[in-house]
Amino acid sequence: MFWDLAADTWGPEERAAIARVMDSGRYTIGAEVAAFEKAFAEYHGKRHAVMVNSGSSANLVAVASLTHKKDRPLERGDEVIVPAVSWATTYHPLQQYGLKLRFVDIELATLNIDTSRLEAALSPKTKAIVAVSILGNPAALDVVRAFADEHGLYFLEDNCESLDAELPGESGSRKTGTFGDIATFSFFFSHHISTGEGGMLITDDDETDALARAIRAHGWVRDVPDNVDLFPPGEDSFAEAYRFVIPGYNVRPQEINAAAGLEQLKKLPAMTAARRKNLKLFQQLFDGDERFQIQREHGKSSSFCFTIIVRPESGLERADVFGPLEDADIGFRMITGGNFPRHDAIRFFDYDIVGDLKNANTAHDRGFFVGNHPFDLSEQITRLRDILNGLKG
Ligand SMILES: Cc1ncc(COP(=O)(O)O)c(C=O)c1O
Repeated sequence: MFWDLAADTWGPEERAAIARVMDSGRYTIGAEVAAFEKAFAEYHGKRHAVMVNSGSSANLVAVASLTHKKDRPLERGDEVIVPAVSWATTYHPLQQYGLKLRFVDIELATLNIDTSRLEAALSPKTKAIVAVSILGNPAALDVVRAFADEHGLYFLEDNCESLDAELPGESGSRKTGTFGDIATFSFFFSHHISTGEGGMLITDDDETDALARAIRAHGWVRDVPDNVDLFPPGEDSFAEAYRFVIPGYNVRPQEINAAAGLEQLKKLPAMTAARRKNLKLFQQLFDGDERFQIQREHGKSSSFCFTIIVRPESGLERADVFGPLEDADIGFRMITGGNFPRHDAIRFFDYDIVGDLKNANTAHDRGFFVGNHPFDLSEQITRLRDILNGLKG
């Protein structure tokens, strides 16, 4: 394909790392996972990182962990404020743990949660808020952090689409994924780093880390660090090896995923720089075109892709763009999962909508994205510019 949505970023380093695992004969969770977790936590200046088999699993384990906290656990019927545009598995764990969702509209410019609507979303039952930096573009995470602190809410940061993005603040620039009480990441093929399938959650909270480690692996006590006074050890080491203390899953990663992840993490700064260079060109070529709205960068985007919303005033329909893109062999798709309450799955949810979801609907009906990759895309971006220049609106 001339310009696909995702590209392979594995080189000889990832292949050699995987070969090392194969030679070792130890395939399931072990030293490579521990090393990747350590490096990933350090990259974000966090105390803990827990690797799992996907970003979706990271969200699941994060929510499950909060339902088992000693003080103020998340409980069935509690309310959670969420943005209307995100991926399905941002929401599914919340439904699975009996929480009520309050959907808040996005800003059309940034595609992130509209923080001016947070007060309206608050009720005496609100216990948590989820913020998602959409497609590499930092949400107003500092505002959400302050709001969560002011109202005593857990802040779950789904950073699955925005590894390595940054938000400037008074004390310097801070990476996305460092604002939430827990932040989650995806290493799926198309994401900023890829482990094939894979995910991570990070936190500074020892209790959350310990709970996540138990929930990741069957709910057994074996992986819970000694320094946490959660599940006092029993006397009998025979029983202790198979002591189940919490309802868990098996969402463990494999060694090959972590070995590839370690190599990818080393390449991440250069890959982000290449994505940002492409973004600059895209912004330069598309900013002045009134027919289209491109995602306005907030802070420093790590640019997952390039979004385009075909403005209603343009005289164009989104479908007018799709044909020429197909002809040019350019991949395109919906912005993340669109406006989530419009999916059939919503009938299983307890939810309400705060005000209206006008902007989420516009993104859903008139938006799409094309891929960004960690290498030079000047030719592709220029071609896209020529195609859209040629449209009659
Ligand atoms: C915001 C968001 N959360 C969660 C996920 C789930 O990640 P995974 O595909 O690794 O399960 C994705 C996937 O793209 C995502 O975009």
